[in-house]
Amino acid sequence: MAYQTVIVLDFGGQYKELIARRVRECGVYSVILPGDVPLERIRALSPIGIILTGGPDSVYREGAPRCDRALFSLGVPILGICYGLQLMAWSTGGTVSPCGVSEYGRTAMTVDTDCVLFRALAASQIGLMSHTDQVSALPEGFRTAASTEHCPNAAIADDERRLYGLQFHPEVENTPNGTTMIRNFLYAVCGAKGDYDMRDLEGKLIEQIRRQVGDEHVILGLSGGVDSSVCAALLARAIPGQVHCIFVDHGLMRKNEGDEVEAAFAGRELDFIRVNAQALFLEKLRGVTDPERKRKIIGAEFVRVFETESRKLGNVKFLAQGTIYPDVIESGAWNSATIKSHHNVGGLPKDMSFTGLVEPLRGLFKDEVRALGRQLGLPKTFVERQPFPGPGLAVRVIGEITQEKLDMLREADAIFREEMAAARAEADQYFAVLTDTRSVGVIGDFRTYGYTVALRAVRTTDFMTCEYAPLSHELLGRVASRIPNEVKGISRVVYDITGKPPATIEWE
Ligand code: XMP
Repeated sequence: MAYQTVIVLDFGGQYKELIARRVRECGVYSVILPGDVPLERIRALSPIGIILTGGPDSVYREGAPRCDRALFSLGVPILGICYGLQLMAWSTGGTVSPCGVSEYGRTAMTVDTDCVLFRALAASQIGLMSHTDQVSALPEGFRTAASTEHCPNAAIADDERRLYGLQFHPEVENTPNGTTMIRNFLYAVCGAKGDYDMRDLEGKLIEQIRRQVGDEHVILGLSGGVDSSVCAALLARAIPGQVHCIFVDHGLMRKNEGDEVEAAFAGRELDFIRVNAQALFLEKLRGVTDPERKRKIIGAEFVRVFETESRKLGNVKFLAQGTIYPDVIESGAWNSATIKSHHNVGGLPKDMSFTGLVEPLRGLFKDEVRALGRQLGLPKTFVERQPFPGPGLAVRVIGEITQEKLDMLREADAIFREEMAAARAEADQYFAVLTDTRSVGVIGDFRTYGYTVALRAVRTTDFMTCEYAPLSHELLGRVASRIPNEVKGISRVVYDITGKPPATIEWE
């Protein structure tokens, strides 16, 4: 895929993915590489531009992340952001020192409207600042292109060498015109053509799959999650009749989920193999209460079922995976084609020999995968799914898992989800948990002793931290009334309002 490419060099900034996504949103392909990547790797990609991310360090400190100084004489346009600007200035002969007054948050600034980065913008701008160092003396060839009350070099420019720096963060929403500044860098400085477009990406991915696979067959473990589903739909279109999807129904899915997965793939040109292994998983989990043991058992059993089914297929050369770009970045496998470690399926079959790995989504961010899924005709409800743990309801039934408890939880969870959808409540992930606590209740004239269901609804962007969603009391009241009335065996409903940290999102 020969798209014009921008390289985002990472110096430890929390926004590297956001920068790369903004570039793509502007119609330009981007890749993220470690800041100290050898220059040959950069040259090999023939980038039209390079962006240096922010980072928490001080560039003048011994051991701070640096790049090869020769980067700045490659002749490729460079935009340094925050630490990236300081690194650029420091590497080209300028001085970086602690700020007299550190700046945090939305900060007013005056920009030089003649500077190409601020083309079509007013002189008065807002930028999100977060810095304790700043450029105190400009390197030769640079000029100031923006300043704030406390930061004389909020933007710097060297038009001749096409080197630019922004002390603030143009990639975040708190810099209202940040995307325009990035677009100006891409189009007015780097000469971008805007050739990265989701509409023709599908065609390019299909072409790439066909070239790699030829007439051979491909096997894919389909979990029903967004990534593996989009991967399956794409493969079906690229190599119809050569794709075998193994969907292991472990009986730990939400209400109707197994059938929904099957329905989403009906009519597509793939061999959909549904393995109904509910009884097997339940048997293996009998008497197990420790969450980590539950996870291990499910992972190991999943691999065993997958192996058994794939052996039945005979000579399949390729293994496909729905690995996406954040998986590649997180695993540290920036360059190499390593097999994704599925914490949800407990690792891939070790003794199966595949001659190749097909990972068509390896370069895409989650929102791009979703867009591709919609393009491929997967149902909207499917591609917009919230995350669901691989071990499924096994980690939402606290204590021992039984068929009866799973059925209770499925019903309670479905009621909660139905009411959340009807109220259009805002939460990034929500579900019900069947706790192991029973309490006294009363229904009609009868005393009951049923289970307690905990509702969990959280707001988060990265799932690494979260806050509870402030659901309305009206909505919570409705759910709390419906569940004990409609689900036999449940007599109490509570709402979990703990954040992460200290709690995790799941209960186990
Ligand atoms: P925690 O509970 O760690 O969850 O705050 C963070 C996110 O990860 C999901 N999760 C899992 N996903 N296998 C998965 O594939 C697992 O074992 C697992 N445990 C948690 C969880 O739903 C949340 O989105």
